Amino acid sequence: MEDRPVASTGSEKAQQLYPAQRAYWGGRGFHSLVFSPLRGPSEASIIPRPTSSDLYHHQHQAVAKMVVKVYIVYYSMYGHVEKLAEEILKGANSVEGVEATLYQVPETLNEEVLGKMGAPPKSAVPHILPAQLADADGLIFGFPTRYGMMAAQFKAFLDATGGLWRTQALAGKPAGIFYSTGSQGGGQETTALTAITQLTHHGMLFVPIGYTFGAGMFELDAVKGGSPYGAGTFAGDGTRQPTKLELEQAFHQGKYTAGITKKLKTGSI
Ligand SMILES: Cc1cc2nc3c(=O)[nH]c(=O)nc-3n(C[C@H](O)[C@H](O)[C@H](O)COP(=O)(O)O)c2cc1C
Repeated sequence: MEDRPVASTGSEKAQQLYPAQRAYWGGRGFHSLVFSPLRGPSEASIIPRPTSSDLYHHQHQAVAKMVVKVYIVYYSMYGHVEKLAEEILKGANSVEGVEATLYQVPETLNEEVLGKMGAPPKSAVPHILPAQLADADGLIFGFPTRYGMMAAQFKAFLDATGGLWRTQALAGKPAGIFYSTGSQGGGQETTALTAITQLTHHGMLFVPIGYTFGAGMFELDAVKGGSPYGAGTFAGDGTRQPTKLELEQAFHQGKYTAGITKKLKTGSI
């Protein structure tokens, strides 16, 4: 006889579970253990039912213990994006229950080319493998602009995420974006906007910061990078460093995105 459930009701149905299901529920149907109106008093009737306050207590404890993982993943050739990343890390870690980690993506250029481009040695921040992205509850991606869009090093990293795409392992994960350009009008918004296609194909949820940073968003007297898409800075000829306000916006983005990630994972803020 074929070993599969047939149309039936009540305890009969419970006896006809797949072998694997039977094994899972200890060799007996789950329904026969919990609901057995025709079998008189059973083990189920002597197990005290949890009260709603027990359930609340257990859920509350589970949420309190749950670690929310936020990965800040970036590429930086001259250190500007890395400075923003460090502030984003602080902001994300300021949210209770959040454990944020910095990762950089691997370099694709050789030492000779990097030398000609005047790139300093890389920091000690560890490299990430594409598969590790799946371990994060939330992601914040950062890169410098190359001709108005993300640097090829970051694109090469994302091009290696085909396995994650196939299983849609990143779908539903919140993700933010931050960036650095050389000049004003050099691509702050276009860099973020064109990066959204990457999130979209993975099914990730783009988390812009909007105007939640407040008054700093309207700064016009001093040069300020960043936008509703995310934190940003201007490198200029390379000597300009992120300003206090740009770093504050980066901190804000970390805190804000970590808060959204926590809310999505635990249902609480
Ligand atoms: C090949 C190349 C293309 C670039 N294209 C742009 C650009 O389109 N717009 C811009 O403002 N800056 C551009 N830049 C400047 C970089 O964005 C700048 O070096 C970077 O923001 C510095 O960030 P980092 O210190 O994290 O590497 C370009 C730089 C290189 C090397």
